Amino acid sequence: MSKFKKFIPVNTPLINESDALAVYNSIKSGWISSEGPNVKKFETKIAKYIGRKYASAVSSGTAALEVAIKSLSLKKGDEVILPAFTIISNVNAIIKTGAKPVVVDVDIKTWNIKIEDIEKKINKNTRCLMLPHIYGLTNNMDRILKIVKKNKLFLIEDAAEVFGLKYKNKYCGSFGDISILSFYANKHITTGEGGMLLTNNPKLNDKIINYKNLCFGKGQDRFKNSDIGWNYRYTNLQASLGLNQLKRINNIIKKKFHIGNYYYKHFKNLKNIILQPNKLPYCKNIYWVFGIVVKKKSKIKIEDVIKKLNQKNIGTRPFFWPVHKQKFLIKNKYIKRIRLPNSEYIANNGFYIPSGLGLNSKELEYIKNTVVDIFK
Ligand SMILES: Cc1ncc(COP(=O)(O)O)c(C=O)c1O
Repeated sequence: MSKFKKFIPVNTPLINESDALAVYNSIKSGWISSEGPNVKKFETKIAKYIGRKYASAVSSGTAALEVAIKSLSLKKGDEVILPAFTIISNVNAIIKTGAKPVVVDVDIKTWNIKIEDIEKKINKNTRCLMLPHIYGLTNNMDRILKIVKKNKLFLIEDAAEVFGLKYKNKYCGSFGDISILSFYANKHITTGEGGMLLTNNPKLNDKIINYKNLCFGKGQDRFKNSDIGWNYRYTNLQASLGLNQLKRINNIIKKKFHIGNYYYKHFKNLKNIILQPNKLPYCKNIYWVFGIVVKKKSKIKIEDVIKKLNQKNIGTRPFFWPVHKQKFLIKNKYIKRIRLPNSEYIANNGFYIPSGLGLNSKELEYIKNTVVDIFK
């Protein structure tokens, strides 16, 4: 097979002329900061789409997690459970608020939190479950909500990777006391950077609005601030881009499914790899990224696979490094040394291949053929 001339990165966003025009119009209008009218419009549209009462835009998904957990008013010594296999933003937000992260392994099949291990970690100090949906599959929300309710925990649902995906007939992002989204360049809707907090609780929503904007006072008391907050505001320029993409959300989601299903169809019978399920009884895989785990018994090891793909001009990314293996967290005594075999195995042997919305059919076929060639 001849080599593709151009390097294919793991993500190419799809930004079109009308997106550019939307941002241009926003600049021309003079509304460039968070005060512009499109921020509110974007928040309202996202809240309606997901099915929540309130949506509040912030500067990133990471910022959204920090504001979310801060809004729960946790105390020192309160514990927050999270899976080991996820982005660093989750654990950082917990630590920054002064709470204690309690890390749980993931399910070897779905790569989401191992639900049967959650209750083993619940004690009188447990206050919250921080729950990311990983790579394109939702967690089993019926089981999760039962645990959360029984143990009176807050749920922060991290739907950063699964915008537009439904659990049964409800959108991800509609389950948490607070749920969050991300609009980073590799997300289904992107505004370069950006995030959103979603809730149905007016009191939590007031806190969210306060913390994301420096806890300013009202009216004449504007500069008498009530607490330590952040400037995590979102700009009118970003909102203009988001609003324009939201118009074609159905096509965006269709394309994500198409890319993932195409790879899955061609890779599912390759003997030396493990893939996330293509669907589960309660959801389809929306394939935020298309992950491949190389089996233990495979003769070709992950380093060689990545090298070969790179030689063929195909970009790859390693998987998340598990939270409990992050050296800085152990060194600073935020996390004890533990073994969580599934997270470690997935992280050590997993990588993902290009699946951005900007991928064209020639690139897709070339990547598919190259991967099949390596593993056949
Ligand atoms: C599960 C999850 N949560 C949060 C984030 C953070 O989002 P951002 O990059 O917008 O800060 C990411 C980023 O990819 C993510 O994958």
